Amino acid sequence: MNKQRVYIETYGCQMNVADTEIVKGILSRSGYSFTENAELADVILINTCAIREHAEERIYGRLGAFRTIKKHNPDLVVGILGCMAERLRKQLIEEEQVVDLVAGPDEYRRLPELIDTALVGEKGIAVRLSKTETYDDIEPYREDGISAWIAVMRGCDKFCTFCVVPFTRGRERSRPLMSIVDEVKELTRRGFKEVNLLGQNVNSYRDGEYDFADLLAAVAKVDPTMRVRFITSHPQDFSDKLIHTIAEYENICNYIHLPIQSGSNRILELMNRTYTVEHYLERVETARKIIPGVSFSTDIIAGFPTETEEDHQMTLEILRKVRFDGAFMFKYSPRERTKAFEMGDDIPDEVKTQRLNEIIELQQKISYEINQDLIGKVVEVLIEGFSKKSKDFYMGRTDTNKIVILPKEDLEIGDYCVAKIIRANSATLFAEKAEKLERSNRITKYAEV
Ligand code: 5AD
Ligand code: SF4
Repeated sequence: MNKQRVYIETYGCQMNVADTEIVKGILSRSGYSFTENAELADVILINTCAIREHAEERIYGRLGAFRTIKKHNPDLVVGILGCMAERLRKQLIEEEQVVDLVAGPDEYRRLPELIDTALVGEKGIAVRLSKTETYDDIEPYREDGISAWIAVMRGCDKFCTFCVVPFTRGRERSRPLMSIVDEVKELTRRGFKEVNLLGQNVNSYRDGEYDFADLLAAVAKVDPTMRVRFITSHPQDFSDKLIHTIAEYENICNYIHLPIQSGSNRILELMNRTYTVEHYLERVETARKIIPGVSFSTDIIAGFPTETEEDHQMTLEILRKVRFDGAFMFKYSPRERTKAFEMGDDIPDEVKTQRLNEIIELQQKISYEINQDLIGKVVEVLIEGFSKKSKDFYMGRTDTNKIVILPKEDLEIGDYCVAKIIRANSATLFAEKAEKLERSNRITKYAEV
């Protein structure tokens, strides 16, 4: 029996969180156990992100800390997994003495072998990308909890010109619908209350004749009291059928993450986003008609190559027009191998920062206003855990993905409840008088009190 203890740190997107569970599934099958304390570990793995330069800088910082631990424990194995491993490959081993193994996102099955080799002092690299790997037969290693993540597809074929993901995660491929449904059944049995279906671009999901809307419906039917969420949608493939499916099933959450990236058609074209602002607005309008109360979030990039002040103003304008509930906002970061990398990085950092700050400021104001309108309303909340600030309060989420802080009353984690909103800022709602809601009488719409 293998006695090695593994410590894993995860950075980046939710796909990496799901991948870490797969890595743990693979390692536990081979007899490895896990520790939460890096200093007690025989093997340290870092699941990395390469989407922006800043993400990689953080990892280099962590390697410094692991170098110190290795000084005290020379047998320690340090491995880099994920997108940065795929992107930098040999360079990581050559330039970072502390690194013993490098494994890209499609090579996790080889981890036991790579770790064994590293334990006897040999460095290893595995960065082949696969057209078919979905880890479908691997049972992810999950602690019991409220919310679970399931990668329903891997990779991306969109090739947005700024994005490194098609190079680090390879071609698009989907997991079979039935095996996803079986996994959701098992999660329900274990008491999970929410499942998040993940893909770089879920609208491209395909299993024979089934598309993503079919998958969502199949998952929603497993347990009507289990919330179903999904990320990320691409505006080009965001179909009417999908919108109708979200509307039809009470337990499919009324929340859509739909990255727009820019409000300028010229920039969208340079980004190879394959839609126009007009198409985007039409999709939002249609979804709002068919799913009353639906909430939207988006991604925005400030300072893409050649972006003018006028383009930037168009981005601010689109924020005002759509009035997103929330947004993830980034400064453009050039990534090697991408098409945009060749366009140069001509927007000075101060200009990027200023534009980003204007975008953030405007979006915060809009989120604040939208949340203020909820004061006095009653919302349905799924309680996910304790408030970060005080054990006397719970933290939960609305169907529309808004965070709610509420009094504990006699409620428990995992309960659905209705709560009256009494205060709000741009990121959080605060509630009073939360009351348990039996699973059978769930509401999903806001009600007036
Ligand atoms: N620079 C800045 N932001 C980026 N994103 C992807 N690539 C880059 C980049 N090179 C952002 C996009 C995407 C989100 C996941 O990250 O907005 O939707
Ligand atoms: Fe990157 Fe575009 Fe694919 Fe998203 S859709 S992962 S931004 S290439």
